[in-house]
Amino acid sequence: MSLPPVPPPSSLVTPLASPPPAVELPLRQIPGSYGWPLLGPLSDRLDYFWFQKPDSFFKTRMEKYKSSVFRTNLPPSFPFFANVNPNMIAVLDCKSFSHLFDMDLVEKKDVLVGEFMPSLAFTGNVRVGVYHDVTEPHHSKVKSFSMDILKQGAGIWAPEVISNLDIMLDNMEAKLSESASPSYIFPLQQFLFTFLCKVLAGADTSHDPKIAESGFAMLNRWLAVQLLPTVSIGILQPLEEIFLHSFAYPFFLVSGDYNNIYNFVKQQGKEVIKRGVTEFGLSEEEAIHNLLFVLGFNAFGGFSVFLPSLINAIASDSTGLQEKLKKEVREKGGSTLGFSSVKEMDLVQSVVYETLRLNPPVPLQYARARKDFRLSSNDSAFQVKKGELLCGYQKLVMRDPAVFDEPDSFKPDRFTSEKGAQLLNYLYWSNGPQTGTPSVSNKQCAGKDIVTLTASLIVAHLFRRYDSIKGDASSITALQKAK
Ligand code: HEM
Repeated sequence: MSLPPVPPPSSLVTPLASPPPAVELPLRQIPGSYGWPLLGPLSDRLDYFWFQKPDSFFKTRMEKYKSSVFRTNLPPSFPFFANVNPNMIAVLDCKSFSHLFDMDLVEKKDVLVGEFMPSLAFTGNVRVGVYHDVTEPHHSKVKSFSMDILKQGAGIWAPEVISNLDIMLDNMEAKLSESASPSYIFPLQQFLFTFLCKVLAGADTSHDPKIAESGFAMLNRWLAVQLLPTVSIGILQPLEEIFLHSFAYPFFLVSGDYNNIYNFVKQQGKEVIKRGVTEFGLSEEEAIHNLLFVLGFNAFGGFSVFLPSLINAIASDSTGLQEKLKKEVREKGGSTLGFSSVKEMDLVQSVVYETLRLNPPVPLQYARARKDFRLSSNDSAFQVKKGELLCGYQKLVMRDPAVFDEPDSFKPDRFTSEKGAQLLNYLYWSNGPQTGTPSVSNKQCAGKDIVTLTASLIVAHLFRRYDSIKGDASSITALQKAK
């Protein structure tokens, strides 16, 4: 099930009449070292979270070793993560990163956020599907269940997005009349929570006022507490290192929140849960916790990170992008906006892809070598040993100059035209190429297509409703209604 090898960059730019001769890449030892025990991991951890931050952590090492593949430590580590091995091999160009998708070469058991795995208590003591390797029979059951959830919700997806988005926008307009730059983060999350409950679980939040009002905040707390050891939240150092990155926080801090959402999903999502049991062979508990995870972690968590960067890219633009989007949306939207109409909107979709390229919402991906194998980067080959952990930092991979022209620039139309369509082979936000197909035999995001279509639908609806939008990644400063 190997992916086709990443073609040499020149073939992206100028199609060649005949394939170039295969060139043997020079075999190189993987540069970099893990340093002294305890001290090496601690020093790398401080660089990663404090002195350098992730972008420059990876960039400076890539420059130092003159290699997009090198050894490094990644947090969490010392002192209270004694059983978490921080040693890994970073893969930072498109070619080396693509090995993470080859299920013959790597396994994905329990490596969603690296060697560290949040306690199973956060998911009701159920090991949910994202932690399964493709060789585990349960992966196939749970992935099929996730894909079925999406299929069943597809019919109401677009209308639910639009009607709930309108509620949020009415709200934002009211807030704008009271404040110059209201934050849209919580309103956006409330919108996401309401429509996702409906389309994924068939659950109507209006049946439970407490959930309707603060379900999104409950999910935020549940997500934050389990992920804290691996993410930077930007509070004053060294407080963040001492209090947030030195040990894992226990589940009981958010057990009330999780149980509230669990009970809501169990009550209101009966039909979906029943299908998980009868059609996919899951126990009732497995069906509920997996459904909750897809809803709260994958979908709500993913969109909560992604949409602010999309809104920022559009609302802070001063190059005339909004005029072009408006024109396309109004020409191609038809009488009722839906997925079939946004599929015709090349620029809208390209803007969505370009945002995912520059700001991949899940920036780190991990996989463990299933066997010894030879890993290729753009310029060298390296020997990887069975059991070694590979780690790809997409924010750099998606700026691979061998694939993307002017890789640091936001080019709204990068993914339009034939050349743009070819570039989709190298857009990796979903743990697979945008041209790939999520299946039970790979670990690509089950929501790969619905995510980009939903984002495109939101952009299209915004420009049917407004002539212009001003703001950034957290607030809106002006909304000019369509004349
Ligand atoms: C912006 C939103 C989203 C982002 C950024 C995102 C991203 C990802 C990524 C990066 C992975 C792979 C993680 C890994 O193994 O390293 C993944 C897996 C997954 N995603 Fe998404 N996702 C999003 C939305 C969704 C939605 C709406 C669904 C709904 C069904 C979904 C379902 C899944 C599932 C089931 C997996 C596990 C696949 C497997 O185990 O084979 N995701 N997602």
